Amino acid sequence: MRIIGTGSALPKKIVSNDMLSEFLDTSDEWITARTGIKTRHIITEERFEELATEAAGRALDASGLSPDDIDYIICSNVSNLYITPHLSSLIQGNLGIKGPNCPTMDVNAACVGFVHSLDLCDALLSTGRARNILLVAAEECTRFCDWNDRNCTVLFGDGAGAVVVTRGDNLLASRLTSVPMPDVIVYKNPMEATPYESGEGIDTRQPLVMKGREVFRMAVTSASRDINRMVADAGLTLADIDHFLLHQANLRINEAIRDNLKVPEERFPTNVQRFGNTSSASIPLLLDEGVREGRIKRGDTLLLSAFGAGFVTGTMILKY
Ligand code: COA
Repeated sequence: MRIIGTGSALPKKIVSNDMLSEFLDTSDEWITARTGIKTRHIITEERFEELATEAAGRALDASGLSPDDIDYIICSNVSNLYITPHLSSLIQGNLGIKGPNCPTMDVNAACVGFVHSLDLCDALLSTGRARNILLVAAEECTRFCDWNDRNCTVLFGDGAGAVVVTRGDNLLASRLTSVPMPDVIVYKNPMEATPYESGEGIDTRQPLVMKGREVFRMAVTSASRDINRMVADAGLTLADIDHFLLHQANLRINEAIRDNLKVPEERFPTNVQRFGNTSSASIPLLLDEGVREGRIKRGDTLLLSAFGAGFVTGTMILKY
């Protein structure tokens, strides 16, 4: 596969650490020191599916293709208002892609969803099942949050990133892993107790719970190991990678991985400081930013690396 267009979109509302500390027992000093995050974008006025469609439309424009050229849509998503219909079919309608010969499906692989879906795109393209795929990673992470709980709320933001991929041989290496550890990051469906079982229509929603320190340790260890292994298996060295595009969860996690790899800062872009953790949208947001600012150029070698709930990881090397 080959990426031929990128796009992204962020909600208008920007919330600073100081704004959070007006109603949470937290501070800009604590959040900055532990996470590097200064602001995040939060959906307030806009509709989530419109934001996802905006990112998709930008990727489509950048690809030079028309909506009718798209013959598959995949969305990576963990949380949004809709459980069904799935987000990719909503985007199909919003972009005026009539179908019926354009299958749509959503993928939930936590924060690794974009890398997992890109790997899936390669399989669909190389087996001839699709010619041009629109892949959107859109997340409304602030839906996870209990706004009275300082532990998780300060970490997340909302956003969407998208790519259009076509047939090509730009994927150099890919490795996805999954190890069942169901209690490190958990967010349960509000419908766990139905009105029938509970006797009333009570809201049983449980906010996201996370073993923060454990996730931190596993993220640093697994990403450092997977990146080193993948680069060696591909017959490359770390010096051959032009841009390390890592999942943006916490600046300290990324700095620890960069320290382990001994890679210069300029090849390790970050935007978690401005956007917080946008789950699977974080890598395509980082990619689109780099492309639009002219830092990521055609022919550059990219390494993508993500980790998340499950516990899952995804690592990929590709030519842009
Ligand atoms: N503001 C102020 N204090 C806070 C706080 C907040 N927002 N959140 C927690 N604290 C407090 C805790 O209550 C604790 O207080 P105590 O020492 O009196 O008990 C103290 O700060 C330290 O908490 P701890 O959880 O040990 O901090 P930490 O250094 O591990 O940092 C995280 C917490 C969540 C920032 C860090 O563990 C992390 O980023 N983990 C990875 C999470 C992640 O990336 N998840 C997504 C993966 S896709």
